[in-house]
Amino acid sequence: MSKLICRVFIICLSLFSSVSYAQVSSVQNIQARKILSLNGKWNYIVDPYENGYYDYRHDPFDQSKTGTGGFFDDKVQKDKSELIEYNFDLSPQMNVPGDWNSQSEKLELYEGTVWLRRKFNATPEAGKRYFVYFAAVNYESHIYLNGKKLGVHKGGFTPFQFEVTGKLNKGENSLVVKADNTRKQDEIPTVNTDWWNYGGITRDVFLAELPEHYINDYKIQLSKGRKNAINFSLKLADAFAGQEITLTIPELKLEKKYKTDSEGKISDEFTWNNLNLWSPENPKLYAVNIKSATENIQDQVGFRTIEVKGNDILLNGKSVFLRGISIHDENPLLAGRLRSEGDMRMMLQWAKDMNCNYVRLAHYPHNEEMVRLADEMGLLVWAEVPVYWTISWENPATYANAKQQLTDLILRDKNRASVIVWSIGNETPLSTPRLNFMSNLAETARSLDDTRLVAAALEVHRDGNTIILNDPLGEKIDLVSFNEYAGWYWGGTPAEITKYSFNIKYNKPVVITEFGGDALGGFHADENTRWSEEYQESLYKNQIAMLTKIEALRGMTPWILTDFRSPRRQHPVYQNFWNRKGLISETGKKKKAFFVLKDFYNQMQTKYK
Ligand code: GCU
Repeated sequence: MSKLICRVFIICLSLFSSVSYAQVSSVQNIQARKILSLNGKWNYIVDPYENGYYDYRHDPFDQSKTGTGGFFDDKVQKDKSELIEYNFDLSPQMNVPGDWNSQSEKLELYEGTVWLRRKFNATPEAGKRYFVYFAAVNYESHIYLNGKKLGVHKGGFTPFQFEVTGKLNKGENSLVVKADNTRKQDEIPTVNTDWWNYGGITRDVFLAELPEHYINDYKIQLSKGRKNAINFSLKLADAFAGQEITLTIPELKLEKKYKTDSEGKISDEFTWNNLNLWSPENPKLYAVNIKSATENIQDQVGFRTIEVKGNDILLNGKSVFLRGISIHDENPLLAGRLRSEGDMRMMLQWAKDMNCNYVRLAHYPHNEEMVRLADEMGLLVWAEVPVYWTISWENPATYANAKQQLTDLILRDKNRASVIVWSIGNETPLSTPRLNFMSNLAETARSLDDTRLVAAALEVHRDGNTIILNDPLGEKIDLVSFNEYAGWYWGGTPAEITKYSFNIKYNKPVVITEFGGDALGGFHADENTRWSEEYQESLYKNQIAMLTKIEALRGMTPWILTDFRSPRRQHPVYQNFWNRKGLISETGKKKKAFFVLKDFYNQMQTKYK
């Protein structure tokens, strides 16, 4: 099958297969609306045999004639003779948001189904529309309200919602989630990853109340490469023509009035001079108000341009060096996903302590709050979807899933000035199906947002002392980014790696996405002793010496800010299910290599003043 037919085949089938998990794209900035938080204590039932979902013939209860019989009925025994083999009220509780692995010793390594139930009171009003919104559930979730199925979502890191208008009880309601974090080959990510597979409702949950004709989406950013051209688009949830919309930015004394077209849309580009442009040094955010007949939404938005030109990355037209670090969505001090602003601010402050102006939020969409904090604190962001390692490249449903996760990420964060890169994947092995899959994702990213860069961690290989990058995916993306572990996984001791040079096929800015090595915080020895802080320190010094030979080097995000938990790291002394490449240990201690990178970034800050 020719490449073109193959790509058309993937796209066509992906449209079909995405229908099975119909998604309503989440409302933009839904947290700015009237919301009832459903965070807090949820009762949970561990269900490794999915006994609450399938009957003993393994048929799903929610697809039976009555649609009942599963745990989602949330039944309690009324008559003493009644047989019910579950009871949420009498079951234990866990905190939501919060993965189950870090909240119960028994569940630390658990992969499977856990049922979570929250009761809440509602007073639904006529003429209003109601949505249950989940900021993330890992990995596949089936959602039920008062025993009725709302739908299914796949993807552990992107938001989703279900409309519940007309389905809410006046008074008490029962919201039941079947969360299943089982890893599967055809999913995104696939079965092999180097991070902890935290399962459950890992981010916020709330009930949102919206007016009949609500604003489903809007984008307000600078047009590509134009520092005085504001691009404003808006979409109502329905094709409601003639709705009056007023855009104001009070600080600029800017007010623009519009009326939605027959599709309920607005699209405008207007010039506005003397904008105070956003940058890491000057993270200027404007209060933006969008008013309709029934809503008045506030957002905080920064304006900046990002482009590549030859070997340079231009931020607001000026060449920049991305002084970065990679970060996982995990708190090293308190195992589990980052839970709140406090956790996230701690991680980003550590990056600022290192004199970073940039973070790679690896390897999946992080919490929206993390990205909003990057806007506020002045950190550029590489955002990524978990198209990681050995994905099922020829499965159309896998592609549809990856495309949906990339789409949801871009829709969610398109108004965040800090985000400059949409990354479509990490270290994916070369093949024609992989190239087609990734090329289609790159096209998807550009079609959704032509104002940001598209990238991926590409593949490299070695020929003697030459590290060669000629990954064909490099043609399709804006940066030459790749991971290389000279001095750790190959290449001898740290002092020996400066023998390597690079042969890079593309004349584009080079942003190294990963290098590094493990060090057990507090373990000291000579620089050739594996796992010592001195080995890691020497590795960083020699990596920097080796990489600064690359003329087009314009940034890096060494692996990684803090030690993180991984089921692939079993050494009983040095690892204990921790990947120790962090520059900060799981006790929050800065290792010696932290200061090597900080010193290098101080030099680059001076050079790129
Ligand atoms: C890979 C991968 C990371 C992983 C790292 C490591 O490059 O991208 O997710 O943790 O190497 O081996 O520590």
